[in-house]
Amino acid sequence: MIALGCDHGGINLKTAIIKYLDERNIEYKDFGCYTDDSVDYPIYAYKVATAVASGEFELGILCCGTGIGISIAANKVKGIRAAVVSNEFGAEMTRRHNNANILCMGGRVTTEDDAVKFTDIFLNTPFSADEERHTRRVQMLKDIENGVFTTD
Ligand code: RB5
Repeated sequence: MIALGCDHGGINLKTAIIKYLDERNIEYKDFGCYTDDSVDYPIYAYKVATAVASGEFELGILCCGTGIGISIAANKVKGIRAAVVSNEFGAEMTRRHNNANILCMGGRVTTEDDAVKFTDIFLNTPFSADEERHTRRVQMLKDIENGVFTTD
C-alpha cells in the first residue's frame, strides 16, 4: 500500500501518479491536498511520513514545487528516508542503496511523464539487502537518527 501526498506545487504530479497507480490496480491512500489552493507542505509530509513510519504503508510518494521542502519535512520523522529524485538513475539507486521509503519530486522541475517513470522505477526496485555495505550504511543512518552514531 502506497501513501501519497502533495502541496499545491505538486498536485499535477500526484494526479498523474494516481492515474498510473489506478491503471495497475496498485493500492494507495491519498492524504491530500486535493486542490491547487496554497497549503503548507509540512502538513502533508507529516501525514505521509508518519503513515509510512508506522508500518501501515510500505512506501510513500510526496510532491511539492521542488520536492525539497516536502522531503526535508518528511525526513524529520523517525524511520523515514525520503529522497528527492530528478532522474531515472536516482530513482533506482535510492531504493537499491539507500532503502529510501519515500520518493519526493517537484511539480515545477519534473514533468508528469518523468514523475510516472520515476515512480515506476522506485516502486519496482528492491533494496540491495544482500550487499553488506548498503545494510551497514543504512544502519548508520538509523544510528545518526537515534543519537548513537560514532565515527570511532
Ligand atoms: C510552495 O510555493 C513551494 O514553496 C513548495 O511547493 C515547495 O517547493 C517547497 O519546497
